[in-house]
Amino acid sequence: ATHLAFQQFASAEQVAEAATQRILTAATHAIATRGRFQIVLAGGRTPLAVYQRLATHAADWAHWHIFFGDERCVPVPDAARNSVAAQRVWLDQVPIPPQQMHPIPAELGAMPAAARYAELISERLPFDLVLLGLGEDGHTGSLFPGHAIPDAALVMPVTNAPKPPAERVSLTPMALGASAYLLILVTGRDKREALQRWRAGAALPIARLVSAGRIEVLVDAEAAGA
Ligand code: 6PG
Repeated sequence: ATHLAFQQFASAEQVAEAATQRILTAATHAIATRGRFQIVLAGGRTPLAVYQRLATHAADWAHWHIFFGDERCVPVPDAARNSVAAQRVWLDQVPIPPQQMHPIPAELGAMPAAARYAELISERLPFDLVLLGLGEDGHTGSLFPGHAIPDAALVMPVTNAPKPPAERVSLTPMALGASAYLLILVTGRDKREALQRWRAGAALPIARLVSAGRIEVLVDAEAAGA
């Protein structure tokens, strides 16, 4: 059984700091034992505070391999792209070899991008760390409540996301769970209901995540409602 641990912090800043330290520790461990660190990044606002902090650290960047849990099908330079947002605040500022950056080619359109990315990650699994968030409506990655999620695919095209843009690409629970460590960040008052629903056992996409390893959920007091 998967060990699911909720940890509460006073503020969103403390969640960001704790997540940063956990990522750096996981990287050091993975590089020491396997010679590389394969991390899957999340989109949205919450992880940006973590990315900004990571940019200020002197990690062993040459051994980091960057993947994405989901992407929005908008043109490449658009800051609405999860990969572009991460580049601006972090990845462009550290010496990770370009061939170790694996953005989802969402500019191809959701279907071809999902097929291409599934091929790529099938050769790289398992991941060392998958970073995820939880949307107000209970989505994670671009897996939305009520949408059909394939059991046997690694990546899926999304064409009807309720959160714009409608067209997206998302790793499935099967791919996201193929990681030694899932780190989920939930901060802010507007996440409280979604978090409560998840903890109460609602059939949210995030509840389908199972991992052979560790799953940690870092929440701030506002999201926890305490
Ligand atoms: C996206 C994200 C999404 C995100 C959650 C939380 O592309 O929208 O990948 O899944 O993780 O929506 O986003 P916020 O941190 O912005 O609330």
